[in-house]
Amino acid sequence: MDKIRVGIIGCGRIAQRHAKHIEEQAQLAAVCDVIPDRAKDLGTKYDVPSFQRVADFLAYEGMDVVAVCSPNGLHTEHTIASLNAGFHVLCEKPMALSSTDCEEMIKTAESSNKRLFIVKQNRFNPAVEAVKQKIDAGDLGKIFSVQPNCFWNRNFDYYRKSDWKGTKKLDGGTLYTQFSHFIDLLYWMVGDIEEASAMIQNYAHEGVIEFEDTGVVALKFMNGVLGTINYTVNSYAKNMEGSITIFGEKGSVKVGGQYLNKLEYQSFEGEPIGELSEGNPANEYGEYQGSMSNHDKVYENLTAVLNGEGSIATNGLEGLKTVEIIEKIYKSANV
Ligand SMILES: NC(=O)c1ccc[n+]([C@@H]2O[C@H](COP(=O)([O-])OP(=O)(O)OC[C@H]3O[C@@H](n4cnc5c(N)ncnc54)[C@H](O)[C@@H]3O)[C@@H](O)[C@H]2O)c1
Repeated sequence: MDKIRVGIIGCGRIAQRHAKHIEEQAQLAAVCDVIPDRAKDLGTKYDVPSFQRVADFLAYEGMDVVAVCSPNGLHTEHTIASLNAGFHVLCEKPMALSSTDCEEMIKTAESSNKRLFIVKQNRFNPAVEAVKQKIDAGDLGKIFSVQPNCFWNRNFDYYRKSDWKGTKKLDGGTLYTQFSHFIDLLYWMVGDIEEASAMIQNYAHEGVIEFEDTGVVALKFMNGVLGTINYTVNSYAKNMEGSITIFGEKGSVKVGGQYLNKLEYQSFEGEPIGELSEGNPANEYGEYQGSMSNHDKVYENLTAVLNGEGSIATNGLEGLKTVEIIEKIYKSANV
């Protein structure tokens, strides 16, 4: 079978990880970045053509898939242009910054008859997968409540070194860039949200970011489950915790660590979760750590689906749901 050829728009931090896994499981075909040196460096590293203009990149025919790794606020434009140019798309999280934009992306995937994948690699964390299996098997019984804690550190340099992070227009908000993975997992494990009530504040990043650095959220899910999210990027000097705790009638469980990488607590009426594999380390960016680096699993899924084996791990509709929930939360905080 011919290797699937993937091009990348946006040659920044996460693109380096995409390129590595594309080369391991498919073939990197071309790259594009408005900053010519970034495109050139990545292109040279993998010996593939590099482009500065998206239109020129999309006119290059030697690709099957475009991986959209540009700033959040450009995902819609780049995804729609790539689909219309005849390519499947793997779009980084968050899918977009409004549910209307997500809907346009889904519609375009349908009208162009191409596949749309969204990156939500935390679903592949071993502890997260194990808890999801327990929930689906009914081993927690009825779920009563859920509590994600998102306590990370993002200092001034993190935002100041970027021309888009911290901006309303291209970043969108702390729930979009830092914590959309957690919202996705709430939706995936517990369900959709009926009501949200949030209070948010910018305590330590005044003049540095255009939105909150901290929030508290109360949630009511459509299935009656209650939830609270506590989130901040003010954990002193380093990431402290990224966790989800779930209380059900037949079990309580906490997936924790800094980035949902450890099974920290379990107590079940039935069989406990057994030994888990170590999983991948976090995405390491020098001054800070991101989520678990499971992009290998994302590309395994992409190549399987495009070879006709299996279904998309996170499709456009699921990507839309995360954005819809974030919108509900921010609306309740009058953003
Ligand atoms: N899945 C994850 O865990 C994960 C981790 C990090 C980032 N991300 C997501 O990946 C995306 C990129 O984040 P990053 O940290 O790599 O950012 P980055 O700033 O390092 O990279 C973005 C790149 O896009 C380029 N760009 C901007 N406008 C462009 C345009 N019009 N055409 C082509 N290129 C353009 C920039 O020059 C930059 O090189 C974001 O959406 C972010 O939320 C996801």
